[in-house]
Amino acid sequence: MSGHSSYVPKTGFERWLDARLPVARLAYDSLIDFPTPKNLNYWYTFGGILALCLGIQLVTGIVLAMHYVPHVDHAFASIERIMRDVNYGWLIRYMHSNGASMFFIAVYAHMFRGLYYGSYKAPRELLWILGCVIYLLMMATAFMGYVLPWGQMSFHGAVVITNLFGALPIIGESITTWLWGGFAVDNATLNRFFSLHYLMPFMIAGVVILHIWALHVTGNNNPTGVQVQSKADTVPFHPYYTVKDGFAIAVFMLMFAA
Ligand code: HEM
Repeated sequence: MSGHSSYVPKTGFERWLDARLPVARLAYDSLIDFPTPKNLNYWYTFGGILALCLGIQLVTGIVLAMHYVPHVDHAFASIERIMRDVNYGWLIRYMHSNGASMFFIAVYAHMFRGLYYGSYKAPRELLWILGCVIYLLMMATAFMGYVLPWGQMSFHGAVVITNLFGALPIIGESITTWLWGGFAVDNATLNRFFSLHYLMPFMIAGVVILHIWALHVTGNNNPTGVQVQSKADTVPFHPYYTVKDGFAIAVFMLMFAA
């Protein structure tokens, strides 16, 4: 992604590809030979866990959207159908809804780590700011997902949260009407929430790419808070951190499955 590349294409195809679209070089420099501080602890595994969480939400969400109907007369019934009649629909729905909670548990651990070790400080300010953008998008996405089943909790949750904007002086009422797409939380609101709930995770994925790009420019911080001085302070990302992240992901997935 940035800095010196150590990738050497071996086969004829790799050389051909590398001269045209160096995606193999990008993957090698980012995930295999990336110099990573030797002393990262398990708090540093949450970034990888979060990437997995986003992947799970995207895959399960796309399958749910194949069966969900974003209309006030059909939304609740379509969720009941997913739970009872769609093959493994109950599992996909629970992976998606509990997956959202697990995603937030992981993101709070990730942010706490950043605060504790001072990872938000120079030269990683932009990395932190991109993280805050991801967090805001996550909250908006989760809120709109909560509304989609159109049960009592969804409806009244939507009423309470959208009405908060009404507290803004002068423009508050117009903003609320604009968000609703009418003069109450109704079908137009549900429909746009579904549209945005589908869109935003892909925006999150885009900001995550920028987040990891920014990380690969500055390199990781580490628990001492002292910047790595030379190559002797680092190890290649693979196999050291692929294995450590893999172990943490396995433990996280056990808790998720429970
Ligand atoms: C979908 C959500 C997110 C994903 C997939 C993600 C991914 C990652 C990954 C893979 C890393 C490198 C490994 C690690 O340090 O754990 C990282 C580092 C970092 N992330 Fe995130 N992140 C997310 C959200 C956030 C949020 C919400 C914040 C803060 C508001 C944040 C702040 C940081 C910082 C400061 C680092 C550098 C840590 C260091 O080097 O000490 N991230 N992120």
